[in-house]
Amino acid sequence: MRDDGFHELATVYQALDLADELVAHNSDDLTLRLREDSVEVEVDDSNLVLQAARALQEQYEVDRGADFELFKRIPVAGGLAGGSADAAAALVACNSLWGLHLSMDQLADIAAELGSDVPFSLHGGTALGGSRGELLTPVLTTGTFNWVVATSFGSLSTPSVYRRFDDLKAGSRIPAPAVPNKLLEVLRRGDVVGLGKLLHNDLQPAAIAGLPEIDLLLESGLDFGAIGALVSGSGPTCVFLAKSREHAIDLALSLSTTGLCSAAHVAHGPVTGARAVAE
Ligand code: C5P
Repeated sequence: MRDDGFHELATVYQALDLADELVAHNSDDLTLRLREDSVEVEVDDSNLVLQAARALQEQYEVDRGADFELFKRIPVAGGLAGGSADAAAALVACNSLWGLHLSMDQLADIAAELGSDVPFSLHGGTALGGSRGELLTPVLTTGTFNWVVATSFGSLSTPSVYRRFDDLKAGSRIPAPAVPNKLLEVLRRGDVVGLGKLLHNDLQPAAIAGLPEIDLLLESGLDFGAIGALVSGSGPTCVFLAKSREHAIDLALSLSTTGLCSAAHVAHGPVTGARAVAE
């Protein structure tokens, strides 16, 4: 662990088309509510949407507010960086609503202070995340990858999974993390089978120790023909690589009948990061 309490990472992020929608209107205050049919999430001051808007207000001395309405589809506390995606959306929305004309680099500086995954959520595509995740290098890919995202019934807190990772590794020397060149090569070539073999997450044993049933979920996905499977981020959501769009639909259906996951979504990547769409 680093002196600042974070872990040094070498991670490959890929943005998927499983997205939330954030609508922002001009207002004197900062307020956040959920659309009626949204996945439930706290909308108090702990929500990263409000934290992102407040950070922009403070840094650029903005005296205007915003009234946000959030429609969440991304499962909450699942290791999918959903809160980070909403923070990135709030930065993009406020930049436009308040006419700040900030560059992506300026927004990324604020994003990094909000959370390790927020800069990538702005950036999108496929990227290598270094340092605590916020230092990005774009990764070249070919074609579209077809994924199934299966959410667990249980939940895991990110800090507790990192703590368990430390406990499991206690006494052993942890080498500096690195992304194998071979992984970058299969992404560049759009080699789905090659990618499936190389999927790996060092946090997976710690996530499984916290919620053992996700191991069964990973195994059943592979039994249903997934080319590869892994825990997403700090979990407990698991992602499965499919052979094709059709295979992803079949796999999602099969997984949703196992009783091992609360939902299974088909998702494709890479897609762009947070973007403003005028109403
Ligand atoms: O930056 P973020 O808010 O996503 O981090 C949440 C928590 O996850 C941190 O407080 C830390 O405990 C853990 N973390 C870590 N190393 C990272 C990213 C997150 O230990 N690279």
